[in-house]
Amino acid sequence: MILHLSVNNALLSSFNTIADGLATDGFSVIDNFLSEAEVKAITSLDGFRNGLLHFKKAGIGRQQDKQINETIRGDYIQWIDKTTAPQPLHLYLKQIDDLRMFLNQSLFLSLKDAEIHQTIYPVGSYYKRHLDQFKKDDHRKLSVICYLNENWQEEEGGQLRVYFPQGTKDIFPVAGRLVCFRSDLLEHEVLPATRERLSLTGWMLDRIL
Ligand code: OGA
Ligand code: MN
Repeated sequence: MILHLSVNNALLSSFNTIADGLATDGFSVIDNFLSEAEVKAITSLDGFRNGLLHFKKAGIGRQQDKQINETIRGDYIQWIDKTTAPQPLHLYLKQIDDLRMFLNQSLFLSLKDAEIHQTIYPVGSYYKRHLDQFKKDDHRKLSVICYLNENWQEEEGGQLRVYFPQGTKDIFPVAGRLVCFRSDLLEHEVLPATRERLSLTGWMLDRIL
């Protein structure tokens, strides 16, 4: 391996698991991508603490019809600006960047950048089945989501449901868990939850933002 990354062995082993999953299924999930302390540092930031005040209602495509959007997705988002991101988010961006470079080397990709937003799904909200590439010329190649919910219980719902040719797979939004999948390939949805659902949602791009 030519790549020299300043990541520890645990993270490197996570990166390998992600690369393997992407190569075989176009999908992977790992736990403890972020530690409990790292999750706490992020959810304690003003952004998430006052989320619904500061975050914007997420839209779809060119957002011509808000009424329709409402029935498709109910999350609130705030894009992360890497030049002004507070330390805990900056660390996450760095980790995602390391992952991106690792995947470029191990899977011969040429991912050039990432765009990431903080996300809140209020109680009862959802995101209907969709693909993360809306248009043919979309530059989103890999979807990368990290969940931030301590002690999430399965009865609380809020699972990510991924549609594979062989059937579906449900992933609960447990703190520190990371999912990564092919944006052009895998349809998925977010089911409603009985509790607010927090995450960092992003995409690795084949061009610089
Ligand atoms: C999305 C999305 C899934 C999730 O934001 O496009 O599908 O589990 N999110 O939050
Ligand atoms: Mn999606």
